[in-house]
Amino acid sequence: MPQFNIWILFSFHLADIISTVEFNYSGDLLATGDKGGRVVIFQREQEGNNRSHSRGEYNVYSTFQSHEPEFDYLKSLEIEEKINKIRWLPQQNAAHFLLSTNDKTIKLWKISERDKRAEGYNLKDENGRLRDPFRITSLRVPVLKPMDLMVEASPRRIFANAHTYHINSISVNSDHETYLSADDLRINLWHLEITDRSFNIVDIKPANMEELTEVITAAECHPNQCNVFVYSSSKGTIRLCDMRASALCDSNTPSDIPCEPEDPSSRSFFSEIISSISDVKFSHSGRYMMTRDYLSVKVWDLNMESRPVETYQVHEYLRSKLCSLYENDCIFDKFECCWNGSDNAIMTGSYNNFFRMFDRNTRRDITLEASRESSKPRAILKPRKVCTGGKRKKDEISVDSLDFNKKILHTAWHPKENIIAVAATNNLYIFQDKIN
Ligand SMILES: *[C@@H]1O[C@H](CO)[C@@H](O)[C@H](O)[C@H]1NC(C)=O
Ligand SMILES: *[C@@H]1O[C@H](CO)[C@@H](O)[C@H](O)[C@H]1NC(C)=O
Ligand SMILES: *[C@@H]1O[C@H](CO)[C@@H](O)[C@H](O)[C@H]1NC(C)=O
Repeated sequence: MPQFNIWILFSFHLADIISTVEFNYSGDLLATGDKGGRVVIFQREQEGNNRSHSRGEYNVYSTFQSHEPEFDYLKSLEIEEKINKIRWLPQQNAAHFLLSTNDKTIKLWKISERDKRAEGYNLKDENGRLRDPFRITSLRVPVLKPMDLMVEASPRRIFANAHTYHINSISVNSDHETYLSADDLRINLWHLEITDRSFNIVDIKPANMEELTEVITAAECHPNQCNVFVYSSSKGTIRLCDMRASALCDSNTPSDIPCEPEDPSSRSFFSEIISSISDVKFSHSGRYMMTRDYLSVKVWDLNMESRPVETYQVHEYLRSKLCSLYENDCIFDKFECCWNGSDNAIMTGSYNNFFRMFDRNTRRDITLEASRESSKPRAILKPRKVCTGGKRKKDEISVDSLDFNKKILHTAWHPKENIIAVAATNNLYIFQDKIN
């Protein structure tokens, strides 16, 4: 995205607040999960199928209810149906598979297409009612008749009862047979075929819960080394673990990477809260990791763990506003971050429906706004600027007029092209680089 000439390709209003977005490995499908437990999958129009300017658009492919609200009678707790994460499995046959999770239960869904149906059964009629066997006088050979394409989602496996705390991450391993799931205090490893047991690979629960000082905030498998995974914590540390080194990684794992040492004079009541890591992602190449904390994004080289190799300020102007952001709870917002297909650019969200992109080569960065009003179809998005003290220039917005209820927490980058998906409360926006 060298020029950052972004235009809107598509926007869609969903029934509920979007809680996760995820492209499949080729980028032709995009899955969203929402607060109401639904999964909506969008499919990219095949090129050449239609008028040239509609090509590349995404249309709804399938919608299904993944999770329902439940009640935990033992703890008298309501379990929300909100989808916390969705992860695609690499495609192996005509059907697609994805994992979706709420706070407690992970489900494996199969999404398959049907464009034929069988007709001419012997024991039932065309409406599925059983026929009286004594009145069947001749046998028929069933035939397949074409019908309108139907996309069906069916739950194939349910991985339940393994998490006492809230699940924040799921990640499919590069062996394509196992995946991990992380909650506030533990990380489990599952086999995709086995639902009744999982292996606990991280446990940071203190013997006495009153000594609890840290929770797990995110976890991810390495993209090509199936023994390696990383997890981040609310204390601002990231831990790179090797399952071969010990079956159970605990907080004494060798690679315990602290956040950057801070200047003690700038320490404040908020220092620890804002250093909490809300997301950690390996680059596609597996060489780098990226972490998002409240005010910045940092890139780490796995060969040099002592400090980040790059730091990008997302919205440094909020540093003077931490007190009110604490009072309205925004300081606890969990912003995610993502890499582009070639690992040369990164993206993350901010407030006021702003999102930020950073080009790692040129060190250019841009702030854009995801909104229907500001983005007429095919018009290039105007970069936005926040005024930080001094006189406000035309086109700038002052820190005090930012809307903290409009936040971009979830974004995704197409794995091969300059196409991005941005979730702004109920609205999904797909933007494209204009070069195409
Ligand atoms: C990723 O970003 C770089 C730098 O902006 C750009 O040159 C490249 O085309 C992008 N690649 C993909 C696959 O999006
Ligand atoms: C082409 O696009 C139009 C308008 O968006 C739509 O009504 C039509 O069904 C599309 N045709 C095909 C072949 O996809
Ligand atoms: C992603 O979805 C598209 C569209 O159905 C499919 O053709 C492609 O094979 C999928 N890619 C992978 C790697 O799963």
